[in-house]
Amino acid sequence: MKMWLLSVLLPGLMLTANACSPADEPIKTEEPTPIPDPEPEPNPDPQPSGGRALVVYFSCTNTTKGIAERIVEATDAVIWRIEPEVAYTSEDLNYNNSSSRANREQNDPAARPAIKGKCENLADYDVVFLGYPIWWSKAPKVIFSFLESHDLTGKTIVPFCTSHSSGIGSSDSDLHRLAAGAVWQPGRRFSGNESKETIEDWIESMNLNFNNTNTGVFDLSTGTNGNAPTVKLSSGYDMPILGLGTYSLHGATCINSVKSALAAGFRKIDTASIYGNEEEVGQGVRESGVPREEIFVTTKLYPNQFSNPEAAIEECLRKLDIGYIDLMLLHHPGTNDVKAYKAMEKYVAAGKIRSIGVSCYYVKEIDEFLPNVDIKPVLVQNEIHPYYQDTEVVKHLHDLGIVVEAWYPLGGRGHQKELLSDPVLSEIAASHNKSVVQVILRWDLQRGVVAIPGSSNPDHIKENISIFDFSLTDDEMVRIAALNRNEKHDWY
Ligand SMILES: Cc1cc2nc3c(=O)[nH]c(=O)nc-3n(C[C@H](O)[C@H](O)[C@H](O)COP(=O)(O)O)c2cc1C
Repeated sequence: MKMWLLSVLLPGLMLTANACSPADEPIKTEEPTPIPDPEPEPNPDPQPSGGRALVVYFSCTNTTKGIAERIVEATDAVIWRIEPEVAYTSEDLNYNNSSSRANREQNDPAARPAIKGKCENLADYDVVFLGYPIWWSKAPKVIFSFLESHDLTGKTIVPFCTSHSSGIGSSDSDLHRLAAGAVWQPGRRFSGNESKETIEDWIESMNLNFNNTNTGVFDLSTGTNGNAPTVKLSSGYDMPILGLGTYSLHGATCINSVKSALAAGFRKIDTASIYGNEEEVGQGVRESGVPREEIFVTTKLYPNQFSNPEAAIEECLRKLDIGYIDLMLLHHPGTNDVKAYKAMEKYVAAGKIRSIGVSCYYVKEIDEFLPNVDIKPVLVQNEIHPYYQDTEVVKHLHDLGIVVEAWYPLGGRGHQKELLSDPVLSEIAASHNKSVVQVILRWDLQRGVVAIPGSSNPDHIKENISIFDFSLTDDEMVRIAALNRNEKHDWY
């Protein structure tokens, strides 16, 4: 007998065996006799509620529905019920009858019961909770139908189930291949009467980013010198909020800078195809002794690569030679940028790139770009420093749940000297016994902006990640805000 058949049938047989009392009564599930919901409630198209989470569930006897509703209460998520075209009758659900509909479907790998309608507006959600009852230790096939008929690329999926007594087992991981481009969280089984507190604790423990509030507010209390905190991207991945920029670093200098940064505690390195140093960055990462999965590497496609993006992405992967790319950005807007981004979306689905975003997109550019793409950019990297604070853009991006990152955090080529000797910054730095560079980087993080200062000097690199033992006062933040001159130091 084939293994899959055994694995579907055995739990069912065990269930029946467990269920049989000496009096040979049928098993008692939490809903003793599965009575399908006679009149399913209308299922409106989900509308964003200000939250970015969606709860999608299937339920025949309303146990899973109860858990789904408690998740909604805890998260302010939008709810969508999967309704089969043909509702399940009690006889369909009879687990003691080997030819009942549920039994036949679960034993047929190709079964995909049709579902009513489609869950619209998926682009509005970053996190999808996916609930189902356990049927012979597996998810019902209607869940497979849902996953195959919706594009969940780039979403974080959180499976949950209810059952009589079985755990979630491999019922959740069996679903991964049906939405390979999603980030799957480990699933969780609940009993029908699980308390609201348990559900809230579970959600809290996952540190999900679904309410748009923390992309622009960093918890700096968790950072120590040499160990920067992380921010959760809308792709579900965590990214350090401080990194090493590698623009203009080449050859051994670049390799050594990457290694110095990783030795100093940096876990994020920023490069780009146009920098011409992806090979050196990759080599530094590989030779650092730090496990690959602890390091977050960003690279970028340049506009002259947008017309043939697949070849360009392959080249980045080959040059970096670190397995996958944590974050790929478009370097700046240009002809075919949507085409290039769509190619990056495909690489996300294939697991070769984990997160994607853009660079040099300001309010108008981002607003025009978003409707054309399926995966919201997790991050926008723009020119930001005390003389060009980009305040409106930063707010706009944070409101969209997009992380903001500063290039040229120290003012950029030809301008660094003036910024680093600014009297206000110098005074603030002296009062904290810190350097002006450290004050600027701390200012970035306190206003929710990720910074990637570039340096090849190991002492400076170390100094740049030693900004977690002091904080700027509100008054100091206001004084630095007043330094804004709206003075851009580069053309894009
Ligand atoms: C066809 C069928 C198969 C089931 N198989 C299992 C099982 O393998 N293990 C288990 O603990 N419960 C099993 N149950 C019980 C359900 O998982 C449980 O009652 C669930 O909470 C029902 O959820 P719902 O009310 O949302 O439909 C089965 C129920 C049905 C109808």
